[in-house]
Amino acid sequence: MTQDELKAAVADAAIKEIEPWLEKDTVLGIGTGSTANLFIDRLGRLGDRFQGAVASSDASASRLKAQGIDVLELNSVGTLPFYIDGADEVNAHLHMIKGGGAALTREKIVAACAERFICIADGSKSVARLGEFPLPIEVIPMARSYVARELVKLGAEPVYREGVVTDNGNQIIDCYEFMIDDPEAMEARLNNIVGVVTNGLFAARGADILLLGTPKGVERTA
Ligand code: 5RP
Repeated sequence: MTQDELKAAVADAAIKEIEPWLEKDTVLGIGTGSTANLFIDRLGRLGDRFQGAVASSDASASRLKAQGIDVLELNSVGTLPFYIDGADEVNAHLHMIKGGGAALTREKIVAACAERFICIADGSKSVARLGEFPLPIEVIPMARSYVARELVKLGAEPVYREGVVTDNGNQIIDCYEFMIDDPEAMEARLNNIVGVVTNGLFAARGADILLLGTPKGVERTA
């Protein structure tokens, strides 16, 4: 199976996971990226079964609207029953690296408001130790060089993702050569660097359910 076929399989599995829970007033949290896009494309046929969705990016909001799904402001809704999103890496504790698509801040905010985070990922994203994928950090533009120097002190090789401006008007630094032994501790430590808006470690609030696409089928971990 190709990587795209594995992504499609987990998107299908996520639809099956949420479908029994949908009610007229349900608002879903929706992530960003190619796997989330496949999920959005499948969600359209269920559009009359729930109220709408909160999107983690402008791109996902546009895609949801194209499917006829109402996009709501997070401030106008309460707790979301589900947040469905992909990941760049996920470990056995369902800690993740996210932000390859530069949407990490809104992803982390919407995920924080969700009762259950369903991570949908093809098998290549499953790792024993996080960090092979360069860890994204969203920074306030004027703090970029300062934050980069602090990241070097932590052992990372920071690289400015040139030409990328986040939906929040900020910039992204990617941390290379930065293997992470204790994701929760590192997430908190990175949050403490002045000028960091969000780091791409999703450990304090990891996933609750992982749907992982493998050639043998979709593996479910909860
Ligand atoms: C975007 C993300 C995505 O979830 C992550 O990059 C995975 O993307 P894809 O589903 O395209 O592999 O965090 O900021």
